[in-house]
Amino acid sequence: MKVAIIGAGAIGAVHADAYRELEANLVAVVEPVEEAALQFAQKYGVTPYRTLSELLASPDRPGAISICTPPFTHRELVEQAIAAEVHILCEKPMAHTLEDAGAIYAAAANAKTLFATAYCHRFQPEIERMQALIAEGKVGAVRTFYNSFSGNQDDIEKRWFGRKKLSGGGVIIDTAIHSIDIFRYLCGEIAAASGTMTTLLGSTDLGVEHTATVGLRAENGVIGTIDCSWKTPNDSAVVRISGSEGTLNFDYSDAGKITFQPVGGTTKVIQVAGANRFVRELAAFIEAADSGREARTGAFDGLVGLAVVSAVYRNTSTILFTPPARVSAGQAVS
Ligand SMILES: NC(=O)c1ccc[n+]([C@@H]2O[C@H](COP(=O)([O-])OP(=O)(O)OC[C@H]3O[C@@H](n4cnc5c(N)ncnc54)[C@H](O)[C@@H]3O)[C@@H](O)[C@H]2O)c1
Repeated sequence: MKVAIIGAGAIGAVHADAYRELEANLVAVVEPVEEAALQFAQKYGVTPYRTLSELLASPDRPGAISICTPPFTHRELVEQAIAAEVHILCEKPMAHTLEDAGAIYAAAANAKTLFATAYCHRFQPEIERMQALIAEGKVGAVRTFYNSFSGNQDDIEKRWFGRKKLSGGGVIIDTAIHSIDIFRYLCGEIAAASGTMTTLLGSTDLGVEHTATVGLRAENGVIGTIDCSWKTPNDSAVVRISGSEGTLNFDYSDAGKITFQPVGGTTKVIQVAGANRFVRELAAFIEAADSGREARTGAFDGLVGLAVVSAVYRNTSTILFTPPARVSAGQAVS
């Protein structure tokens, strides 16, 4: 099956590297910025096209595409690809608005071809192992989930990520959307979501949040706390699950293992064979497209991500807190 990448940017290159490693038949890239298109085409030995329509009308017409463009472009690209009966792996977030995500879900539900939402962390071997251990009862009844995806993303706010009309928001829609999906995978469906966030960086208001905490509650009562930031100097990428029998912890900076601390016992290391999550994600996409199987994360998972993100944006602590007045000794308290 011929494969093409839509969007020759950062994640487009990650998808192209993964297709190359999988020896997939990557034939084309769609990219409106000429220089980026030519560089990408040369690097990966593919033909550049300016638009998806041009690609679909060409001899390189693919059977599957990776949509690796900013979120505001996803809906139009998805609708075009579905009309052309092309399989789609669409980068997260599925769209920049809940409305567009709903339209994509409706189109995908009636499509003859596969739609997969690119939630790559489901393909991180250590996360998969945590899910299997939780299912086996290793941690007992799950009580809490903690995840941090924080670091310093220099100048991210100067790209489309910082323009709400194009991105739909800041670090919550961009980064915590991964965390929300990991929470659903490990803990269950989400029943409540809220958050605290800031758009202020020194004296500048970025207009989108760069740092936030998201609180989740699953239908089964598991409580999740997510820290996400584009502007903390030290990177942190951790997933931790605590239950009645112990705690599982995975630190992405220490890949190849997770730890288990049983209640009242000493911490044990569980070795996990490492693998590139993107290569695994794209392999699963091609396999599902070839075999007619469903995607591990489909359009519904993409839509749920947007629904939770929009609930968080509605339920952030923007209501100003009025601190109680201090009183001096002898002063009457009103
Ligand atoms: N899964 C992950 O870990 C991960 C990581 C980074 C980005 N992403 C997601 O991938 C998407 C792209 O992010 P990025 O960091 O690669 O952005 P980017 O800005 O580096 O690249 C996007 C590219 O798409 C091109 N483009 C814009 N409109 C287009 C169109 N209509 N057709 C074809 N190309 C078009 C742009 O010119 C640009 O070259 C976003 O949805 C982002 O959230 C996912």
